[in-house]
Amino acid sequence: MSSQPTPRSGPHHVAVIMDGNGRWAQSRGQPRLFGHHAGVRRVKEIVRACPDHGVKYMTVFAFSTENWKRTQAEVSGLMKLFRRYIQSEARDLLAEGVRVRFIGDRLKLDAKLRRVMDEIELLTSRNDRVHLTVALNYGGRDEVARATQRLAREVAAGNIDPESVDETTLARFLDTCFLPDPDLVIRTSGEARISNFLLWQSAYAEYEFVDTLWPDFTTAEFARVLEGFGTRERRFGAVTA
Ligand code: FPP
Repeated sequence: MSSQPTPRSGPHHVAVIMDGNGRWAQSRGQPRLFGHHAGVRRVKEIVRACPDHGVKYMTVFAFSTENWKRTQAEVSGLMKLFRRYIQSEARDLLAEGVRVRFIGDRLKLDAKLRRVMDEIELLTSRNDRVHLTVALNYGGRDEVARATQRLAREVAAGNIDPESVDETTLARFLDTCFLPDPDLVIRTSGEARISNFLLWQSAYAEYEFVDTLWPDFTTAEFARVLEGFGTRERRFGAVTA
């Protein structure tokens, strides 16, 4: 979906790079997975806070296409954590009106994990209070490459005229075809990089880099960041009258 100039108000779609779990755990003398578990608790709190601030869409970066380079123990611990989280939270998410969906290349994920992902997507498919999108085995460049491949197949099959391909056409093939573009991207832990997250979709997003490590990112700090967003002027390349 394309972005139109908006009046100053809170963001509709917030995307978060939840960074700093490992450092948070290590600073407590704990294994990195301890930090990821604490990180999941924050996801729950922040998602619950969304309706209070008019945030309808929340997209979180849970596992990138580059995260496979971590140790086997961390990768398998994270995969188990995702599966357990999805299974244990399904009922609450359903009751709280949260619609859960995933973006990323799920074909490379374990079959058991894929099954619970499919189940929770179906289970919560009628919810509309908050839309939680979890980026799992997601990379922005990988997403554009996969979308281009699907689009090329349609062109080769004669279903799409190559001359008609524009931004809207490509956007329809992205994993995020069901989402509006993010208005605000938050990254925690003091790193000021976007790390291949929502590259196409964030063309006009505001960025907020905060020093807090993700497990320490409270709903109060989330509220402050959202308030800060309300004071920014978004022009989408236009000039102010
Ligand atoms: C970045 O911290 C965090 C991750 C790679 C994993 C984040 C995952 C969660 C919080 C779980 C969310 C799960 C669901 C299903 C919503 P890091 O390990 O890069 O920390 P560091 O920079 O301190 O090493």
